[in-house]
Amino acid sequence: MQEKLHHADYTSFPESSKREVLEIVNGSYEALSADTNYWVSNLANAASLIWHAYHSIGLPINWVGFYITTNTESNNLVLGPFQGKVACQSIQIGKGVCGMAAMEKRTQCVADVNKFPGHIACDGETKSEIVVPILNGESVVGVLDIDCLTENGFDEVDVELLEALAALISKSNNWSLS
Ligand code: SME
Repeated sequence: MQEKLHHADYTSFPESSKREVLEIVNGSYEALSADTNYWVSNLANAASLIWHAYHSIGLPINWVGFYITTNTESNNLVLGPFQGKVACQSIQIGKGVCGMAAMEKRTQCVADVNKFPGHIACDGETKSEIVVPILNGESVVGVLDIDCLTENGFDEVDVELLEALAALISKSNNWSLS
């Protein structure tokens, strides 16, 4: 494989299937996170990798980012690193797709956000959404949230590989700093 010379090269994806592109995201995340265990830096780069990966396969995602649990707001998720337009800063655990994923500790793959009771519309253009919890042992340290401009944006391939990414994210960061 050609040696990577610049960090930005990680966001160039070859023409390939969704599975292959998401596998590259996970490998790149692992390589990049070897340099730091600070969650802000790692989640910022993860958001960028995911943004560019989906756009490389033509899926019109309009937002990707993280909501984090913190020591200061015990019942809420707070906005973390993301790519896309400005979004709501705080989400109560149990509310919306993000809060549901955090409460149930289970991925929510929503084909049509208008049919999800309590969906929080940060952007009225979003049509589908996937939210994957990030678990550190039994605790939820945050969620990965991706929004798409088309219905049915995500399927079982996204669930599988984004859950694998969430596991990598969990083990590569020092969550006591959040
Ligand atoms: N739609 C989310 C809120 C976060 S934004 O999509 C960035 C939800 O229902 O939890």
